[in-house]
Amino acid sequence: MIHFFQPLPIAILSYFFIVAQTAVNFSNVDIPKEHMPFYFSNFPEIAALCTNDDECPYKDDIGKNRCWGYEQSCDKQYSYSLPVCNGDSKGWTKSTEELVNRFYEEADFGYVRQRDREMQIMCEPLFKDDSSLECADHLKFCRGRNLMLNFTDLATRKEPMRYAMDVLKHGQIGGHCKLHEKRLLDQCDHISPLQSWGPELKNFVELPNRPIENHNCDVIVEKPTFILKIDATVNMYHHFCDFFNLYAALHLNSSHPDMFTRDVHILIWESYTYLSNFAPVMETFTKHPVWDLKTFRGETVCFRNVVFPLLPRMIFGLFYNTPVVHGCESSGLFHAFSKHILHRLRIPMHKRRNNKVHVTLLSRQTKYRRILNEDELLKQLEDNPNYVVKKVSYSHQMSFVEQLEITHNSDIFIGMHGSGLTHLLFLPDWAAVFELHNCEDENCYKDLARLRGVKYFTWEDPGKVHKEDEGHHPDMGAHAKFTNYHFDVEEVEAIVKRAADHVQKHPAFQEFLTFNGESDEQSLHSEL
Ligand SMILES: *[C@@H]1O[C@H](CO)[C@@H](O)[C@H](O)[C@H]1NC(C)=O
Ligand SMILES: *[C@@H]1O[C@H](CO)[C@@H](O)[C@H](O)[C@H]1NC(C)=O
Ligand SMILES: *[C@@H]1O[C@H](CO)[C@@H](O)[C@H](O)[C@H]1NC(C)=O
Repeated sequence: MIHFFQPLPIAILSYFFIVAQTAVNFSNVDIPKEHMPFYFSNFPEIAALCTNDDECPYKDDIGKNRCWGYEQSCDKQYSYSLPVCNGDSKGWTKSTEELVNRFYEEADFGYVRQRDREMQIMCEPLFKDDSSLECADHLKFCRGRNLMLNFTDLATRKEPMRYAMDVLKHGQIGGHCKLHEKRLLDQCDHISPLQSWGPELKNFVELPNRPIENHNCDVIVEKPTFILKIDATVNMYHHFCDFFNLYAALHLNSSHPDMFTRDVHILIWESYTYLSNFAPVMETFTKHPVWDLKTFRGETVCFRNVVFPLLPRMIFGLFYNTPVVHGCESSGLFHAFSKHILHRLRIPMHKRRNNKVHVTLLSRQTKYRRILNEDELLKQLEDNPNYVVKKVSYSHQMSFVEQLEITHNSDIFIGMHGSGLTHLLFLPDWAAVFELHNCEDENCYKDLARLRGVKYFTWEDPGKVHKEDEGHHPDMGAHAKFTNYHFDVEEVEAIVKRAADHVQKHPAFQEFLTFNGESDEQSLHSEL
């Protein structure tokens, strides 16, 4: 990706420095092997080093001419993938081509491409070692060099901070560069905590001196730093929205071969210590302890290199509440994210000894949205010799990595509406998810499944499901999410059968069975 602005001498210097540093050991790139061809096409110098290195295990991945999809010269036929648009757009677009493009720009690597095209210089360096700030429209993403952030006032603030828009006051962020103030303020129009960097960057000022050379900072952070405004660490749907946007931001800031390095800092823009069941996923992005606003309370901090990544609640962002165009599915960006996280967490895909379909039922231990006749449903499914059925409860008792291993080895994933269904992101490509009941929240997991490219099923016949009662929302009274459900067993079986048909017919499933070599003719036939 060619960036809009880079002072040439600095760019060339740091470029050679980084190449020399990372090229030594290819394992440190640490991305799925299937992603290496894309990486090598973007960094031909690294590919050349691999070619000349007898130990390099990625020689097969060189010269494939592939591209993720956001590169300027990326030809569609070589891109990571194209959306599948067989459905009706319900009048949203006129032609299939328009439909494909729209989905690509809304929810695929085209989203990264669009933000990259928007990048504008907001604070312009005039000399080497000056500061700089450049941003996408509405300040959905920015990056800067040699910036000063002044956290002196935080020492006297006693209230906890989360979703706070007043962490910085005017002048508490700035750099030594020529500020295009109107340009910056014009983009400060999405002012809400998780929508943009407007609440912070509206305070940006031009400093009279270079803050680092002039010793204005108590702390100088040399390593690249991502500042994160996160949504919610307890809820898988919301926290993965945080991770997903961070992953997309790695691509948006991908001008260097170390684009996937974990040798970066993460500073979370709240005063709470980062704690989450999903913390192992955070560790796939950084090998250093996660910072928060307590870390630098009372100090002035200079960042050599800082990224303000894409946010979880951007208007027309990804993937929370996004109106994704009808008729398309399978985003390459979601696919790549899934593979990247599974790879970094070393989640294995187990070999199979037969062609049975692995069905996993996610059981909820909560007060509401329980399946009242769960045992009966399980018994019915277990009686089918074509299935291997497993009931799981993804509670705090089981580590997230163990949960992912089960999910990733499931072909059909069944569960009630709830954030646990976000696990569908990590199902294999041939899988189906069955949201037993969507509790009148129809699009949330249906869209997520569509984006990830796994088949989605849900309950359709209202006559064959019985609510325990009308539901008890604490404030709103009757509510479909606040009761329990009794399902018609035959109907469940019929829907699971349709899901199983999808899995068994899927070319990737058939290839998986063949490739893993264990599914010899014998066992195949004995199951049929
Ligand atoms: C390369 O890096 C990997 C992972 O960091 C490490 O296990 C391996 O020993 C390194 N190889 C060499 C030759 O340094
Ligand atoms: C940081 O902010 C404090 C309080 O607003 C101010 O007194 C101090 O001069 C600022 N530091 C720098 C280096 O601008
Ligand atoms: C972002 O990209 C710049 C180059 O444009 C690079 O120097 C920097 O290391 C990257 N930042 C992070 C946090 O990766």
